[in-house]
Amino acid sequence: MVELTLPRNSKVKTGKRWKAAADAKSGAVKTFKIYRYDPEAGGNPRWDAYEVDTSKHGPMVLDALIHIKNTIDPTLTFRRSCREGICGSCAMNIDGRNTLACTKGWDEFKGDTIAISPLPHMPVVKDLVPDLNLFYAQYASIEPWLHTKTPEPDKEWLQTPKDREKLDGLYECILCACCSTSCPSYWWNQEKYLGPAALLQSYRWLADSRDEATGERLDAIEDPFKLYRCHTIMNCAQVCPKGLNPAKAIAETKKMLARRAG
Ligand code: SF4
Ligand code: SF4
Ligand code: FES
Repeated sequence: MVELTLPRNSKVKTGKRWKAAADAKSGAVKTFKIYRYDPEAGGNPRWDAYEVDTSKHGPMVLDALIHIKNTIDPTLTFRRSCREGICGSCAMNIDGRNTLACTKGWDEFKGDTIAISPLPHMPVVKDLVPDLNLFYAQYASIEPWLHTKTPEPDKEWLQTPKDREKLDGLYECILCACCSTSCPSYWWNQEKYLGPAALLQSYRWLADSRDEATGERLDAIEDPFKLYRCHTIMNCAQVCPKGLNPAKAIAETKKMLARRAG
C-alpha cells in the first residue's frame, strides 16, 4: 500500500545508516528505516536507517521517533501532539499500513527493521509530514457544524438517547487521514472525490437529529465525483485506528439519496 507522491523524476535512494551505540543492549536493537525528504534542500528523497536500542525508550513507534530526534538526529521531522490517539497528528505509514505512531507498539512488528514513511499519495512537506491542506479544505466543505432554522432553545439542543446513539461510530473520528490516504479512489481523484474521512464527517451531520439542513447537505454531495467515486474497496475501514467504518457511512449516505429520489 505504500505509495508516495514524489517530485517528478525522483527516486528514493538509500541514505545514511546510523549505527547503534556501542553500549546498546544486546537483543534490544531495532532498525527504523525512515523516509527523509526536504524539498528546500533539493536532492532526492532517501531512506535513512537508525539502529536504536529500544530498551532506552517507551513502547510505541512514536517513542522511538522522539528518541531518534532527541538523541540521534534532530533534523528528523514528524508531527505529534497528544501521544494518546486523540489528536490524529502522528498518522503515518508504518510497515505498509497507515496508522497512528503513538498507539502502535514497535514490538508488534516481527522483523528487525520497521519502515516508516509519510501518509501515501499526499505531497510531502518534509520527512514524515504530509501536506493536508486539501484534506482539511474538503472537511470544511461539508460544513461540519449544526445547521438550524428553528429559533435557538434557551438551553442546549436536546436529543433522545436513541437519536444520540446514531452518532456512535461517527463522532469519534479524529481526522487523522489514515482512511482517505489508503483509498485508491482518493489517490487517483483527490481533487474531486471527497474521500472517506470527509464523507464520514458529512454523514455525522446527516445522521444528527438536531440538524435541519439535510436536504441542502445531500444536494451538496450528490455528485458523481464527490460521493460516487467510492467503489466499496473497504481499505478505509481496515486501517481506521479508531475502529470506524467510513465505507458504511458512505453507503448510508447513498441510501438517503436513493430514498429521497424515491
Ligand atoms: S470503501 Fe470507498 S472510501 Fe473506503 S477505501 Fe474503498 S473506495 Fe475508498
Ligand atoms: S475515519 Fe478513522 S481513519 Fe478516517 S480520519 Fe477518521 S479516525 Fe482517521
Ligand atoms: S500524537 Fe495525537 S494521535 Fe498520535
